[in-house]
Amino acid sequence: MVKADVLLGLQWGDEGKGKIVDVLTSQYDIIARFQGGPNAGHTLEFDGIKHVLHTIPSGIFHNGVVNIIGNGVVIDPIIFDNEIKSISKLNVKISKLLISKKAHLILPTHKLLDAASEKAKGKEKIGSTLKGIGPTYMDKTGRNGLRIGDLTDKDFKDKYNRLKNKHLKLLDFYDFEYELEKLENEWFSCLNTLLNFQHIDSEHYLNKCLKENKKILAEGAQGTLLDIDFGSYPFVTSSNTITAGACTGLGIAPNKINDVYGIFKAYCTRVGSGPFPTELFNETGKRIAKIGNEFGATTGRPRRCGWIDIPALKYAININGVTKLMMMKADVLSGIDVIKACTHYETKEGIIDYLPFQSNHDLTPIYKEIKGWKNDLTKLSSLNEVPKELHNYINWLEEELEVPITIVSVGPDRKQTLHK
Ligand code: GDP
Ligand code: IMO
Ligand code: MG
Repeated sequence: MVKADVLLGLQWGDEGKGKIVDVLTSQYDIIARFQGGPNAGHTLEFDGIKHVLHTIPSGIFHNGVVNIIGNGVVIDPIIFDNEIKSISKLNVKISKLLISKKAHLILPTHKLLDAASEKAKGKEKIGSTLKGIGPTYMDKTGRNGLRIGDLTDKDFKDKYNRLKNKHLKLLDFYDFEYELEKLENEWFSCLNTLLNFQHIDSEHYLNKCLKENKKILAEGAQGTLLDIDFGSYPFVTSSNTITAGACTGLGIAPNKINDVYGIFKAYCTRVGSGPFPTELFNETGKRIAKIGNEFGATTGRPRRCGWIDIPALKYAININGVTKLMMMKADVLSGIDVIKACTHYETKEGIIDYLPFQSNHDLTPIYKEIKGWKNDLTKLSSLNEVPKELHNYINWLEEELEVPITIVSVGPDRKQTLHK
């Protein structure tokens, strides 16, 4: 029996997961998103088309492949409807899309609660994408949520109203003004789009496919440092973004997982609040943000930029059991004379090489300096052509991280991908 592979982010999201899923899709029969919701923004570029996906898996542009939205995902019908409309306009054949009956629905009041909670936190806010992710997962674990499979229940409206009324009471608790009616009308009218797709028991479907030797790639959202358990809590998202999340978010057992592809940028970014030990506040940081076009694909917010953080990457590699690494956006570092990589942190207690419990306090990164390269990488077609300084950077990272780097990405387009 073949086993499923998992692809996920090792930093704070936006590593380039969408691009690599698209690049790898031709090797798979099924692409399955396992967690998160429309807080994600996965960008794909090919044939002059640039497109951002939020809920739909990044294999959608490969005809013949099946795309699945797994039980671990939370779905906003309005955003889903927009996504379907915008991919339909692209004049590209799209592949089959199936949705788990067990995926949870984001209600209009979940979004209001998200906004009210962030407002109440003031300066301490998470920097949420305000897509209702936290409140929806709270209702899931609180055993109050509504699922895709409930949509066809004759008492769906009653269930909806019960949950909405609970939310309205919670909203009274906050000093928060809102307008619900318009949002609610739009939400209900967009349910039709969701109802047009086949709703399945995706855990049965996927396990049957594995028995039939079909190849599955599980697509993660966000990144390991945003994981609800292992991320920089409380500045995290509300799902398990790690390999274990693929097991619970799809119903695939741990012993049915083969490769785990860990995606990371040649530097590091973060959007939203929370600790970021290697963040740059200087001209180099601004330069990386500009050349890397570091603006959130979902919210348009500027991404904070900094140097690569080796202790954080090692942590992510361990927790996920990464077997293959993929380094993104190497092209963005071209022309920087000295590239830095954080290898340790200096703390009051001394020098450490791991992320401590409170990583926002008194943590000074200790850097190794690496000679940069001048060449433009965006037109290269093979790893043999990369400058020797980049080779040295790759080799050093592989030694440090003890996992091979199998792809180096040198631009946003599908074709700008160098394979080992
Ligand atoms: P995801 O959330 O992990 O799928 O990543 P995003 O799509 O949010 O952010 C990655 C951004 O970097 C997108 O704008 C991509 O088009 C772009 N991108 C991906 N790989 C590369 C690369 O190798 N070089 C450059 N310059 N841009 C890239
Ligand atoms: P992809 O899949 C980057 C961040 C938000 C915020 C925190 C909590 O594109 O990599 P939430 O909306 O979940 O309540 O926000 O997590 N965040 C992301 N950052 N990429 C993402 O997804 C993100 N999804 C959430 O900015 O700091
Ligand atoms: Mg993104």
